[in-house]
Amino acid sequence: MHHFHYTASNLHCESVDLAEIVHLYGTPTYVYSAATMADNYNRLAKSMAGLDLQICYAMKANSNIALLRHFSNLGAGFDLVSGGEIQRVLAAGANVKTSVFAGIGKTEAEIQLALENGIFSFHVESEPELARINHVAGKLGVKAPIAIRVNPDVDAKTHAKITTGKSDNKFGIPLQNAAAAYAAAAQYPHITIKGVQMHIGSQLTSVAPFVEAVKKITPFVEQLKATYGITYFSIGGGMGIVYKDALASGQQAWWDAQPVEQRPLTPETYGEALVPLLQPLGLKIVLEHGRFMVGNAGALISEVEHLKLGASKNFLIVDAAMNDLVRPAMYESYHEIVPLHRDTTRRALVADVVGPICESGDCFAKDRQLQAVGEGECIAFLSAGAYGFTMASRYNTRSMAAEVLVQGATFELINARETFAQQIANETIPAFLKR
Ligand code: LLP
Repeated sequence: MHHFHYTASNLHCESVDLAEIVHLYGTPTYVYSAATMADNYNRLAKSMAGLDLQICYAMKANSNIALLRHFSNLGAGFDLVSGGEIQRVLAAGANVKTSVFAGIGKTEAEIQLALENGIFSFHVESEPELARINHVAGKLGVKAPIAIRVNPDVDAKTHAKITTGKSDNKFGIPLQNAAAAYAAAAQYPHITIKGVQMHIGSQLTSVAPFVEAVKKITPFVEQLKATYGITYFSIGGGMGIVYKDALASGQQAWWDAQPVEQRPLTPETYGEALVPLLQPLGLKIVLEHGRFMVGNAGALISEVEHLKLGASKNFLIVDAAMNDLVRPAMYESYHEIVPLHRDTTRRALVADVVGPICESGDCFAKDRQLQAVGEGECIAFLSAGAYGFTMASRYNTRSMAAEVLVQGATFELINARETFAQQIANETIPAFLKR
């Protein structure tokens, strides 16, 4: 469920006509719904009722400081992965003390910054990392709270580039080696063992792999509680969202119409399957969902430059490109594309929807059927709130897109379109080339 819908033929986010945002801020622009994010957060929290729960929003999905503040106001901590993300949490006026620090290559400086800001826990991915955290904590004269990321070797049945819980992925410590890693951690003078963590992958569309992974490591979790008195278990993130029927999935009626066995994963299904497995552990449960929280809360708005009609193919050339939204080029992912102004009297068009970047990979959709749209009209890429702006680049010296947050009938620019001067601000011509 989300808040992108047509009212009087115009696509709206909550009560705001997206044409109004385009008029003020131009394109390409990311637009986010505050209400959708709040609904997602509250629905997830409710579905896990009965647990001592901490939701740590995986901010890599979208780390705009306005969104971080919104999630913080709702009660979230953060799953963060870099010193930069720690600084974003601070810049948002949010709390590092309820946040967890993941990632396989934390630097000494990043570990120090996390400790100085009272991080809730480090999610440790290897034995050498334990030694490094102990060393930095020792230098600061503190004890570092940790959980070890255990790799359960479960197939998440998702895209190869975003599966993480198989034994051949670079993440975590294999279950069979985890007891030894905890024993080593217990020997370090500046480490406090606080919990255990797992994360098996992203965009999971069924609950079965989560259940399998939790069941697989539960005996070990119980053992850790008995031996080291751990107080929390993070089961990671990974809940998938709807990409194919993105617009329709904003309405409850669409969900009701889906045959039960084909229904996409919902927080309710997730909670029903997992709460009974987690509750008996008597531990705080940490969740690290990113995509589920923001994916369907965002759209990328783009203007049509040209419709190029060909003998064998049509191309709809738009002003957004793979630098703005790289997911289709990188993961062959699907994003629904809808016009800002719907006109049912127009003919349909089959076209490749492409950006202006000079490579064929700059393609959002192949042979997509759309309402015919022409130069100057706008379209929206739906389900673009997660891993959209955060994965953007400046390739082809294109500026980072603008971002706008909507709440009800109001909206505000939360990230101005980057200027050319900002793009080259750190570049210089060395003296030896000046003549
Ligand atoms: N926790 C850990 C340890 C993770 O590595 C990730 C995501 C998450 C939580 C959040 O996963 P989520 O709930 O968002 O699925 N760029 C890719 C997704 C990469 C996910 C990386 N790790 C995409 O656009 O599909």
